[in-house]
Amino acid sequence: MEEIYKFAIKVAYQAGEELMKFLFQPHQIDYKGEINIVTEADLASERLIKEAIQNQYPQHAILAEESGLKEGGKTEPKWIIDPLDGTTNFAHGLPWFCVSIALEIDGEIVLGAIYNPVLKEMFSALKGQGAFLNDKPIKVSQTKNLLKALLATGFPYDIQKRPEPVLSRFKAMILRARGVRRAGSAALDLCYVACGRFDGFWEERLHPWDTAAGKLIVEEAGGRVTDFKGDKYSIYGKEILATNGFLHEDMIKILTSVQEGVNNEKN
Ligand code: IPD
Ligand code: CA
Ligand code: CA
Repeated sequence: MEEIYKFAIKVAYQAGEELMKFLFQPHQIDYKGEINIVTEADLASERLIKEAIQNQYPQHAILAEESGLKEGGKTEPKWIIDPLDGTTNFAHGLPWFCVSIALEIDGEIVLGAIYNPVLKEMFSALKGQGAFLNDKPIKVSQTKNLLKALLATGFPYDIQKRPEPVLSRFKAMILRARGVRRAGSAALDLCYVACGRFDGFWEERLHPWDTAAGKLIVEEAGGRVTDFKGDKYSIYGKEILATNGFLHEDMIKILTSVQEGVNNEKN
């Protein structure tokens, strides 16, 4: 497993450096939805990662954002890849994005590597072995009070069509915390919870590639990851709440009270 872990880190690094070649250049933009875009850089990064995996582990399955699921003879182990998390930032020349690579075996994420090539920060975790930032162990924060907490969130691409309950949850949370950031990369949001720069993160309607590596990195850094009710998190599920553990119950209360509020309004 150590060997596969090192391989994942190496490929995340190479894909991140590939992305840097396209940053601050004019982009070829294609539309996956009204505000959901893909650039030539997403595709180049995904190609590089998939080729590396197919050369090294031809039997492994690959679930990649831009090309979907390819079974290499078996359904597992399965690589789960976001070749560029933060595409909107990238396309606008806002240097806040990363590459995210995870490996799933028997329904569990066993390793993850997330690389921010701008800051040259490699976040990684191997199940049971802790989480690391550039090879140094990382831990979640000790913040116990929401008024002293810096939180992160994001908005789904269909926000304009389905603004609720996303906006109500954002409103409830920003009125309770020291601050809430919407930086534009869910994978980096999770890494920042893992290393204590953020104290908590929530988002809904994400995809497996957004959270697979980050979920393990947060857990291995001592944090807690669940859905909004506090139940077991699945990368195939619809909601993620990741915190330092101390803030988890308070955040669940806020997130679920909004859900109830929205249901009550409908009834
Ligand atoms: C997006 C980012 C963003 C989150 C979106 C994601 P992409 O991923 O992680 O922060 O709010 O919901 O889809 O499209 O840049 O890979
Ligand atoms: Ca993403
Ligand atoms: Ca992406």
